[in-house]
Amino acid sequence: MRFHATSHDPTKADVDIIITFLAPDSLFDTKKFGVSVTELVSEAKGREDFGAKKDQTLIISTKGTIAAYKILIYGIGDKKITELSSLYHFIASAIRKANEVKPVKVGIHIPEEWLSKFDATEVFRVVGEAFHLANYRFHKYKKQDEKDKPRNIEEVLCFVSPGKLDGAQIGIDHGEIMAKSTIFARDLVNEPPEYTSPQYLATVAQSIAKESKGKITVTILEKEEIKKLGMNAFLAVSKGSDKPPKFIILRYRGKNSKKKIVIIGKGITFDTGGLSLKSAEHMETMKLDMAGAAAVLATFNALIQISPQVHVVGLIAACENMPSGAAIKPGDIVKAANGVSIEILNTDAEGRLTLADAISYARIKEKPDAIIDLATLTGACMIALGQDIAGLFTNNDQLAIEVERAAKKGGELVWKLPVFDGYRKLIKSSIADIKNIQTGRYGGAITAALFLLEFVENTPWVHLDIAGPAFEESDNPLVPKGGTGFGVRTLLQYLSSL
Ligand code: BES
Ligand code: ZN
Ligand code: ZN
Repeated sequence: MRFHATSHDPTKADVDIIITFLAPDSLFDTKKFGVSVTELVSEAKGREDFGAKKDQTLIISTKGTIAAYKILIYGIGDKKITELSSLYHFIASAIRKANEVKPVKVGIHIPEEWLSKFDATEVFRVVGEAFHLANYRFHKYKKQDEKDKPRNIEEVLCFVSPGKLDGAQIGIDHGEIMAKSTIFARDLVNEPPEYTSPQYLATVAQSIAKESKGKITVTILEKEEIKKLGMNAFLAVSKGSDKPPKFIILRYRGKNSKKKIVIIGKGITFDTGGLSLKSAEHMETMKLDMAGAAAVLATFNALIQISPQVHVVGLIAACENMPSGAAIKPGDIVKAANGVSIEILNTDAEGRLTLADAISYARIKEKPDAIIDLATLTGACMIALGQDIAGLFTNNDQLAIEVERAAKKGGELVWKLPVFDGYRKLIKSSIADIKNIQTGRYGGAITAALFLLEFVENTPWVHLDIAGPAFEESDNPLVPKGGTGFGVRTLLQYLSSL
């Protein structure tokens, strides 16, 4: 598919559909498409009650008055757009709508107002991202129904003034990298859990390294080495599974890098809850529990293309959480890699156990400038923030601001929650240093973050609890039901900002 910016006259573009965006007060601002198009809009205003209200759409057949076959007018409503990130919704929704006519060639016309308010390269990056993300489907295991089969889009033209042409193309290309990396993570999450075993994640890491031609290196630590490093908290979680655990270490060293950042992804390839078994209903989506790991792998996959000037280490403690005769039991006590003893009272609070050892490894072996972990850690975070927003926890406000800024740029929602020291007493154990669940029912996302903090100590750290936004339960313009690839764009934006 060719996706490019052009300064050609949109009325002469021989495309199946042109997408354009209008606000109610600029309803007749269709002059660039010729008088006849403006007349057709005027007619639709009366006959179809079209007023360019938010998410109202109008598809017009141009009847040969311009070269394009149809025009889709997408209503953006009269609320002023103040954030670049609100463009994701409009562009993705418009593309979904345009897809209904199964176009092969698409034209996109971006309002001048957006281009004067925001940097043109950034606007077209969002266009590129939203376009690819909106078209994503995971149909690998489905018999293709001929009538539902989309026609492949062969060409997308973005109309832009000659002065903005180069910037627009840079934006489109950058957006494509961002979207394809997100899609890489979505695919990993959407695959069945029997397929995405710890061994499979290790293989993915190895193939990323292979394709990087030496720019990325990978080390996989096997069970014996994990044991030698004293990662007993991680090993405890893996005990119930027939599949051996893998500790995956990826490394990318950008030119002239001044900072070293460790990114850690929770990599539970399936979370049954272990002996503290989940209900059938709660287990249904638990293949998602490696979404953090998928985000880390997808980020590394993109690093070679964006070449940020930073040293990045990726860590994944990958294993399955299964019940069996060999599984850990509530009441067991393990000594983590940093010497802290943990009383495991609920085997379903397994993510923090694997992360504890990954964090100690990061802090002790790598001595990084910052650690960022992404984990589908607690249902409590979903209770607090809903399904669309990740909880952000930190011991360093400056780092938090930088990650928040990166998330905003990437169109991902994060919200800072407190790592309130006063709740530390809730994870004190009577017979070990700490316990893996809290006393009482409330504030579960915070006590989980406090548990991680025991291992982080003073290293600047951001923890993203992505339990909600890692998986889309319904369907929205930017993501169909399933893995969302959440976190990839935040990580890439953050790493490229250094
Ligand atoms: N993987 C789950 C968290 C989760 C829940 C992610 C729903 C996505 C959607 C995690 O391992 C878990 O089971 N957490 C428990 C912790 C509890 C036992 C303290 C939870 O949140 O219920
Ligand atoms: Zn669990
Ligand atoms: Zn889990």
